[in-house]
Amino acid sequence: MTATAEGKSAVGTARVRLEGLDKVTGAAEYAGEVDFDGLAYGHLVLSTIARGRIRAVDTDPVLTMPGVIDVWHHGNAPRLNTDFSNMLGPVDPLLALFQNDRVPHAGWPVALVVAETSEQAREAADALAVDYEPEPHDTAFRGDRPDAYTPAGQEDRSKGDIEAGLAASAVVVDAEYTTPEEYHNSMEPHAAVARWEGGRLEVVDSNQGTLLVAGDIAQLFSLDPASVRIRAEHVGGAFGNKGTRPHLVAAVMAATALQRPVRVVLTRRQMFSLVGYRPPTAQRVRLGADPDGRLRALDHQACNQTSTTNEYTELSALPARTLYDADAHRTAHRLLRLDVPTPTFMRAPGEAPGSFALESALDELAEKCGVDPIELRLRNEPEAGPLSGLPFSSRNLRACLEEGAHRFGWDDRDPRPGVRREGRWLLGTGTAAATFPSGAVPSTAAVTAEADGSFTVGVNASDVGTGARTAMALVAAEALDTDPENVRIRIADSDLGPAMIAGGSMGTRSWAWAVSAAARELRERLVPGAEVPPEGLTARSDTGAAIGALSAKERYSFAAQFAEVAVDPASGEVRVRRMLGAFATGRIVNPLTARSQFLGGMVWGLSMALHEEAARDRASGAVVGGDLAGYHIAANADVPPMEAFWVDDPDPDDPVGIKGIGEIGIVGAAAAIANAVWHATGVRHRHLPIRPDRVLAGGREAPGA
Ligand code: MOS
Repeated sequence: MTATAEGKSAVGTARVRLEGLDKVTGAAEYAGEVDFDGLAYGHLVLSTIARGRIRAVDTDPVLTMPGVIDVWHHGNAPRLNTDFSNMLGPVDPLLALFQNDRVPHAGWPVALVVAETSEQAREAADALAVDYEPEPHDTAFRGDRPDAYTPAGQEDRSKGDIEAGLAASAVVVDAEYTTPEEYHNSMEPHAAVARWEGGRLEVVDSNQGTLLVAGDIAQLFSLDPASVRIRAEHVGGAFGNKGTRPHLVAAVMAATALQRPVRVVLTRRQMFSLVGYRPPTAQRVRLGADPDGRLRALDHQACNQTSTTNEYTELSALPARTLYDADAHRTAHRLLRLDVPTPTFMRAPGEAPGSFALESALDELAEKCGVDPIELRLRNEPEAGPLSGLPFSSRNLRACLEEGAHRFGWDDRDPRPGVRREGRWLLGTGTAAATFPSGAVPSTAAVTAEADGSFTVGVNASDVGTGARTAMALVAAEALDTDPENVRIRIADSDLGPAMIAGGSMGTRSWAWAVSAAARELRERLVPGAEVPPEGLTARSDTGAAIGALSAKERYSFAAQFAEVAVDPASGEVRVRRMLGAFATGRIVNPLTARSQFLGGMVWGLSMALHEEAARDRASGAVVGGDLAGYHIAANADVPPMEAFWVDDPDPDDPVGIKGIGEIGIVGAAAAIANAVWHATGVRHRHLPIRPDRVLAGGREAPGA
C-alpha cells in the first residue's frame, strides 16, 4: 500500500455524497420503486372512529372489484407473535396487525386490501365497508390533569430540597411552557416490498436499521431470523419514525399468504396516524438564583401524552441534568394516556421541546437578574455532571457561547427589550444553549483488501439522507491510509450483521468505530509488498468489548444557538432574519454534509418555533388537515441566511474522535427564536408555535386556544 497525503486526512475533508449522482438522476432505487416480477399491491384501511370495536368487515362487495386479490382483517388474518421486545422496548401493539377487534385511536389499521395494481387496491380499500361500535373517546391533552402518572423506569431524579432552595433564592422564575403535537413526515413515505425467494423472506424497506426490523419481522411471524433479509439501500429521510412500521408487516403478511411479491406504500395522510409523532408537552420550569444569576434551585417537570396501547415518554427534562447545576435540582416526567396514536422518537426526542422550556426560563432569569444571557450561562457552567458528579468527556459549551457571540455580533446588543425598530418591524436577538448525548453502540464491520488494490467495507449502517455511506468511506480511507475513491461501501442489509441503527445521533460514531477497528486489523495483516490473494483478505471487528470498557463519564455534545427576528406588532408576523449555530460536537467527518445536518436541524427549530402544530379534532379524534398542505412547516421563504460552525472538540475516548451530530442542530433553536421575540417585543411567548394570533394577543392566551 502506498501512503497518500489524502488518505491520512480523509476525515474532515468535504465530500459530495457517493450516491449523489444516482439520487439526482433517478438511478437510486427507493423501496417504493422496487419492481419484483408478479408484484401485487396492498393498501391499508384505517379506522374512522377513535375508540371502540369493529363489528363487521363486509369484504364480499370488494372482492368482486376489478383486480382485487384478497382482503385481510381481524376476522381472517394469521395469528402473529406479539410477545417480545427489541432494543427500543416492548413491541408496539400497532404492529400486531388485525389481531383483534379493538380500535384504540383514529387511523388504526383495520384491514389490508391487495390487488393487481396500486390504483385497484386503493379504490377497493376506499370502498371497504367497516361497521364499528364506537365508544366515547378522550384526546384532550393538558398538563394539569390529575390522571397523569410517572412511567416506570422514568422516576424523578433529584438532589437537595427544591422548595427550600427556591425559598432561599433572591430571584425566582416559575413558568409553564407548552409545545404541540409535531410530525416528522419525511419526503419519502414509508414503503416496503416483500417476497419469498429460495426459502427466504426478502424485503426492501425504508428504515433506519435493517437488523432491528428483520428481528421484529422474524418475531412477529415466528420465522428463523436467518431466513429474513431486509435491505434499505436508499432512505428518503427518517428522523426517528422509520423503525418497524405497519406497512412492512402488511407487505410480509400478504406476500406470505399469497406466495407472491407484495408492495405496500403509506399515503401521506396515513403517515399522520401510523408512524408516530412528537407528543404535545406541558412543562413547568422553576429556577431560583442569587442576584448575580447563579442557580440555587432548578426544577423541570415535563408531561406528555401517550396512547392507551403503549408508553412513550418524551424526556424533555433531560437537558437540565446536563446543562446546569444547583444545590437543589429536580427533573421529572409524567404521562397522560389518551385515545391517540403512540408518539415516537422525533429528531432530538426530549431535548427539542425540553430545551425550549429550559432555555426560555434561563432567558427569563437573565431578564430578572439583569444579567446578559450569555454571561448567565457562563456563570452557571458546571465542573462535573450536575447529578452524577462524573467528569465530562469534554465540554466546550463555553467556546460555543463565546465564539458564537463574537461571530454573531452579540457584544453591542442593547439588553432592553422593544427598543430596536426598523420601520414597522421590532427587532431582537436571542440565544440558547444546547446539549445532546454522545454515545456509541456495539457494532460490527468487515473490511476486505481486494486483489486489485481496492477495498470493500461492509457495515450495516443506514443512510437516511445524512451521507453515512460517504462518511464511512472517509473513515475507512483514513484508517487504511488510502484514497476514499479506492473504497467501496456496502450498507443497509441485515445480512451484513449487527450494527447500530441510524438513530440517537449514534450511527456515525458507532459504525466508524467498527470500520476503523476492522481497517486497522486489516492493515496489520497485509504483508507489505505481498500479493493479496484472489479472493481478497478480510478483517472483521466487533466493538462490544471496547465500548464496554469505556469509563463512566458524562458524554455529550454541546452547542449555542443565536437568532435575530423581526416582529410586526400590527400583523403579528414573526420573521427570522438570521441564525447562527456554534457546535462542539466531536470531530467532524465530512464538513459538507455536517453543515447540512446542523442547518437542517436549525430549520426544524425555526419551523418548531413559528409554524408547526398538528390540531387534533376533539370530535373525530384525528389530526385535522393531516397532510403536507394542512400541516404548516417552514418553507424556503421562511428560512433566512443561516450559518453553522464548529469548534475543535475531538472526543478523547473515541478512536476517530467523533461525538455525533444528527440531532443537536434542532436543540435550543426554538428557544433562541422565542428569546429573540421577547427581546424584540418585550412579550414572552411560552406556547409554541409563536403564531401571529398569539403575537397579537401578547402571548397571554391559554395553550390550545
Ligand atoms: Mo432519531 S429521533 O434517534 O432517529
